Amino acid sequence: MSKLNNFSKITSDTIAEAIGQFGSPFYLYDEHLLKEKCREVLSMPNAYGLNVRFAMKANSGRSVLKIVDECGLMIDASSLNEAKRANLAGIDYSKITLTTQEVPEGEERKDLEEMMLRGLKYNVCSMRQLALAAPFARENKINLSIRVHPGVGGGESASRNTGDDYSCFGIHRTDFQAAVDFAKDSKIKFDKVHVHIGSGADPIMWQNNIDLELDIIERYFPDAETVCFGGGLKEARLPGEKCADVTALGEYAKLRITEFYEKTGRKLKMEIEPGTYVAANFGYAVTKIIDKKRTGENGLNFFITDGGMEINARPIMYGSSHPFYIISADGKLLYSDWLKEYEECDYEAVVVGRCCESGDSQCLDAEGRSFARKMSDASIGDIMVIGGTGAYCSSMTPFNYNSHTQIPEVLATESGELRVIRKRQTLLQILENEA
Ligand SMILES: Cc1ncc(COP(=O)(O)O)c(C=O)c1O
Repeated sequence: MSKLNNFSKITSDTIAEAIGQFGSPFYLYDEHLLKEKCREVLSMPNAYGLNVRFAMKANSGRSVLKIVDECGLMIDASSLNEAKRANLAGIDYSKITLTTQEVPEGEERKDLEEMMLRGLKYNVCSMRQLALAAPFARENKINLSIRVHPGVGGGESASRNTGDDYSCFGIHRTDFQAAVDFAKDSKIKFDKVHVHIGSGADPIMWQNNIDLELDIIERYFPDAETVCFGGGLKEARLPGEKCADVTALGEYAKLRITEFYEKTGRKLKMEIEPGTYVAANFGYAVTKIIDKKRTGENGLNFFITDGGMEINARPIMYGSSHPFYIISADGKLLYSDWLKEYEECDYEAVVVGRCCESGDSQCLDAEGRSFARKMSDASIGDIMVIGGTGAYCSSMTPFNYNSHTQIPEVLATESGELRVIRKRQTLLQILENEA
């Protein structure tokens, strides 16, 4: 019985047992680690209170939402459907903030208004959203939140940077005054100011954003009672990656929010909305090696697995790298990217999926070309586990590409049970809505 790494309770024989029970591929989630991460973010130092919202876009399944809710996290929803989904999982609208690019009209606007009456916090992200929400907010004496676009951001890749001028999330700094004037004329208040500068950037960017956002609040938003610094706390999926120091960032925010109080007499509550930091490492994509190839003398070794981009699209979308664990069919750990005893393994291979797409690779360089990574050699029938797949995998992959079916999600509970929390999709379900 070998643990896969030094942070999770999942062992190699649990994986072999699960593959015997559920077939492959599937996602395996470690409930213990999810709860531990929730406790960690909730203990972030703060000056005058802290709300932690789980960015449910990272993993939107009902069981996961229930766990984070029970742990005391609130919800950051990115669409009306996400908000509805959280509510259907038993989470009260008063615990949900909606931050969306959508501009609900017709029936959807009615839905939004109903949610607002039931306590949902609407975080307006554009001048148009603001104009549409203002009459209803005024009439019902509902305060709004505003997402500001600082013009500075960072991310794991350019496509994950939501704060610079090449992305369009929030009301841009050049429109702050117009938004404030409009709110004043409409007799509505912004009691929360929100920023999300991007995902997976160097934690120093996150720290710099604290200063930037407090400065914006001081200049423009006299009614703000809550400052939300967004998500984007970096988690290390692989050893050597720079991980956010939540305690140090909290201490810094606490200091700056206290100074803000001393200067302005205003005590701001702090809010964060992590997705990756909470959920990335509690998930494993479990696949089987179904074939092996080599592309000539000067080419590469390939392990072909029964799950690739359709279960983890992060490499093809962002150029991300994930840890690999190789396990024999009878449960022996053959390789772990996280354990020192495997550092000497010098077999080099590319892990690819079975989609008809050259980018269906878990080892892609910045140009989108496969490169070999060090690991141990493996045989057809061995188990290839892709770690760091608890966030932005089951919720974000093109799972029906090549008509593959969406894979099951299995929760390894704290009590050691393996529980299916979403069944495997069937081919008929893919066809269901076709005429
Ligand atoms: C508004 C908002 N908040 C929070 C998050 C979560 O980011 P992360 O998963 O990097 O913590 C995102 C991610 O895109 C986001 O758009």
